[in-house]
Amino acid sequence: MADILVSIRNLDVHYHTRMGVVKALDKVSLDIERGQLIGLVGESGCGKSTLGFAILRLIPPPGRIVGGSILFDAEELLDKDGAYMRQIRGKRISMVFQDPMTSLNPLQKIGDHLVETITTHESISKQEAWKRAEELVDRLGISPSRLSDYPHQFSGGMRQRIMISLALALDSDLIIADEPTTSLDVIVEAQILDLLKELKAAYNMTLMLITHNMGIVAELVDRVAVMYAAKIVEVADALDLFANPVHPYTQGLLKSIPNIKLLDQEFEIMKGSPPDLIDPPTGCRFHPRCLHAMDICSEVDPPLKHVGNGTMVACHLY
Ligand SMILES: Nc1ncnc2c1ncn2[C@@H]1O[C@H](COP(=O)(O)OP(=O)(O)OP(=O)(O)O)[C@@H](O)[C@H]1O
Ligand SMILES: [Mg+2]
Repeated sequence: MADILVSIRNLDVHYHTRMGVVKALDKVSLDIERGQLIGLVGESGCGKSTLGFAILRLIPPPGRIVGGSILFDAEELLDKDGAYMRQIRGKRISMVFQDPMTSLNPLQKIGDHLVETITTHESISKQEAWKRAEELVDRLGISPSRLSDYPHQFSGGMRQRIMISLALALDSDLIIADEPTTSLDVIVEAQILDLLKELKAAYNMTLMLITHNMGIVAELVDRVAVMYAAKIVEVADALDLFANPVHPYTQGLLKSIPNIKLLDQEFEIMKGSPPDLIDPPTGCRFHPRCLHAMDICSEVDPPLKHVGNGTMVACHLY
């Protein structure tokens, strides 16, 4: 039996704006197995970050979780109070953001930040915590002598390594990384991805990697969840997804990856754009852009269902 660390069911998140209610997650269900590296992909605005924040119960106002369930290690997170969630965050679930500067204090030395984070969650001495911090940054390719430096003295790639080391410092059960390499150049990006691969092997991490870069997904992840307009439309093992994408949206996403090795391959940009989440299309939200749309598609919202091989898809073709 699969060892499920996170089990999300029918999760609804709404942002109440002046224009109306943005339904940023609509009945989202997803399981994440322990030790799994799962990629969350989809076009901008489909709800990827919202799902990441929801797991941490950090949806910013005017957003609210309005329904559903998030079981983390068999505990219902949506029932927990703020104090309990503060204990969970950082210690058991960490988040790595696109821009590490937003999570680092510009006036605090990196070493002090690491020590503070470690000692907040564990009863060890400052000296021991400092030693742990030295080992961690060393492991990630940063000289321990640099723990006395401030965030601005590091490059973007190094700051991202530091954020990852913070997550490792606490030996988090789950790391949610939201576009962790988007602000980095391609060489540094490749280094960080290699690092994640190494860490995945060494620490048996459970990682949810949010990205719109399908190339990164192909390189790194075990399983992929594809989101479209606030819903999950396909979940599959990465190899299956790339060999045999099932949902027409996934097929379109894969065709829109430029591939310099195959210069004459058919490279198509999907037509149209994702819908407004205040007033999304009826039935399947993808139907206005879908090459295979049938009558039923504009009427009935297809549920996510198993189609064999561990693949799940929400599409009337299956
Ligand atoms: N603070 C907010 N107030 C109002 N609407 C919001 C807010 N944050 C997100 N949204 C809306 O919720 C939807 C999902 O946004 P989200 O940021 O989760 O998408 P995303 O998939 O992470 O996009 P990206 O790839 O651009 O990061 C979007 O329609 C967005 O406009
Ligand atoms: Mg986002």
